[in-house]
Amino acid sequence: MTTKKYELVELDSGRKSAMEARSGTLGPDCLNIAGLSKDLGLFTFDPGFMATAACESRVTFIDGDEGVLLYRGYPIEQIATKSSFIEVAYLLIHGELPTSQQLEQFDHAIRYHTMINESLLRFFNGFHHDAHPMAMVSAVIASMAAFYHDSMDNHNPRHREIFAHRILAKIPTIAAASFKHNRGQPFIYPRNDLDYCSNMLRMFFATPAAEYEVDPVAAQALDLLLILHADHEQNASTSTVRLAGSTGTNPYAAISSGVSALWGPAHGGANEAVLAMLEEIGTVDNIQKFLARVKDKQGNTKLMGFGHRVYKNFDPRAKIIREMCHKVLARLGHTDNPLFELALRLEEIALKDEYFIARKLYPNVDFYSGVIYSALGIPRSMFTVMFAIARTAGWVAHWQEMIADPAMKIGRPRQLYTGPVQREYVDIEKRD
Ligand code: SDX
Repeated sequence: MTTKKYELVELDSGRKSAMEARSGTLGPDCLNIAGLSKDLGLFTFDPGFMATAACESRVTFIDGDEGVLLYRGYPIEQIATKSSFIEVAYLLIHGELPTSQQLEQFDHAIRYHTMINESLLRFFNGFHHDAHPMAMVSAVIASMAAFYHDSMDNHNPRHREIFAHRILAKIPTIAAASFKHNRGQPFIYPRNDLDYCSNMLRMFFATPAAEYEVDPVAAQALDLLLILHADHEQNASTSTVRLAGSTGTNPYAAISSGVSALWGPAHGGANEAVLAMLEEIGTVDNIQKFLARVKDKQGNTKLMGFGHRVYKNFDPRAKIIREMCHKVLARLGHTDNPLFELALRLEEIALKDEYFIARKLYPNVDFYSGVIYSALGIPRSMFTVMFAIARTAGWVAHWQEMIADPAMKIGRPRQLYTGPVQREYVDIEKRD
């Protein structure tokens, strides 16, 4: 780890602050600004954390200019073609690819933790039939803290391992329960003899009235989507899990805060918004009119699924999902999928438009994912839930990395205060 030296000089007074920048294994050097407030009484000001490293991490690396995404050093393109979501979850959490025995033990632990407490199932009866599944999933995960609070010592590695197994195993079951609640259908219990994605599809689509056979093409497509959504460095929801977790709160409560942050349309909620946008555009003929609204910034209309805080090039995940669309839609018999055709034309037109070129706006992970979820029969309201299921692996990995770090401190940002200076209280009689 090399360091470079910097010095900040206050020109009026000549006061100085010496600083050092640490280099990581990849990516920009990071300037340690601890001395600034001590030497010069300064804070840094970086709304939205555009250029602020909030922590040190070894989990995932992104190069936004080159469109690179590495999970524990492995390129997403290799992971996507060679791995499985369960193996990726192990890699993200433990830092290394598992041996066959480690993978078998991890997979077994998850397969045998998929059921949820029956009283948790009764929570769903309290939700309105059309409650948004993200609201139900966030609430029910938070309530898991009530079941596992007394037996959870964040600093006990075995407790952290059991937490990881439980939350990865149970979030598909909770997602399925919210899906069935929306549909007014009976809950379908998980089965230990099915793999992660087959179990999920069966809990979503099986009914007591008929036999249900999982389509292996659908299970494989779902597994790839989970892999691509599993982690993404210090994104808003992961940073939320880290900040909540830094207070020492129950890890289920921290994961629930991540679900809530992910829901926003600027983040994971974009996949649901992309489908709404495509349905609103309707046909290729309407694309230019829609893009004109985006460029005129009427009512803050965005081209959903485009743009990214880090990627100023293609999001590598979007490229993989676009290719996947071609294959999966054909194998599912959706060759003439109008939504996909519209999305392809919209991307083609936007990428040639100066407005998007000048702002380096490219398709991100959310632009095409909904096309596949739709082809799998998953409704738009469940798209971000699918994202949350996948991202739970990343949230767990980052929470564990932070909690296991003896140097961990509670996150507590400061501010640039521009409110009133001190003033005296005025009794109400004198205010009228
Ligand atoms: C995810 O961080 C992660 O890693 C997230 C994620 C993950 O895996 O965790 O990758 C998942 O959240 C992907 C992003 C999903 N969101 C969307 O698709 C929503 C649409 N995109 C935008 O809201 C936006 O691009 C953001 C929020 C994703 C990024 O916003 P930034 O980095 O704050 O950029 P910005 O808003 O400052 O935009 C710069 C310019 C602005 O124009 P000007 O003021 O310079 O004229 O680009 C414009 C913006 O108005 N712009 C867009 C746009 N995105 C940015 N204009 C139209 N459509 C868009 N989608």
